[in-house]
Amino acid sequence: MSQSLRGQMLQSPAIPSANLLGRTIIVTGANSGLGLDCAKHLVRLNVSRLIIACRDVNKGESAKKTIPETQSLPSNTATEVWEIDQNDFESVVSFGHRVSTQLDRLDAVIANAGVDMTDFVLAEG
Ligand SMILES: NC(=O)c1ccc[n+]([C@@H]2O[C@H](COP(=O)([O-])OP(=O)(O)OC[C@H]3O[C@@H](n4cnc5c(N)ncnc54)[C@H](OP(=O)(O)O)[C@@H]3O)[C@@H](O)[C@H]2O)c1
Repeated sequence: MSQSLRGQMLQSPAIPSANLLGRTIIVTGANSGLGLDCAKHLVRLNVSRLIIACRDVNKGESAKKTIPETQSLPSNTATEVWEIDQNDFESVVSFGHRVSTQLDRLDAVIANAGVDMTDFVLAEG
């Protein structure tokens, strides 16, 4: 516990220095929290195409505006907001179809979207 607190409060992880030019990356749940911070980080690393995948496109568009590099040109990153609701099977299938038909490459998926629940609940049965 004390080691965990020390790690969280007093230490910073090493900052990656990769150049993601030419790469396409999807981050799910990127409209808030860790996903949004991850998206900002990928833009700092020069990613070429970034897909903010979220269940509320308006939230995603608002989040996109908070990524500094999307406000000031020139930027190497093209950021897009795509809808996916992981509670809705049709939405997941449709997102997959969009990925396979609209992306010419996919280098990574950061599957960050999720909720912390006390009870297990099935979506759509
Ligand atoms: N923060 C921590 O200390 C911590 C620790 C361990 C694990 N995690 C995990 O790390 C991930 C991010 O955590 P966070 O603290 O950044 O959480 P957060 O701020 O609540 O963000 C969760 C994101 O997931 C999205 N999401 C939830 N259900 C979804 C669904 N059915 N379909 C599509 N998107 C959905 C949310 O969208 P909406 O805005 O529309 O709700 C939001 O964008 C979660 O999976 C969490 O369980 C976090």
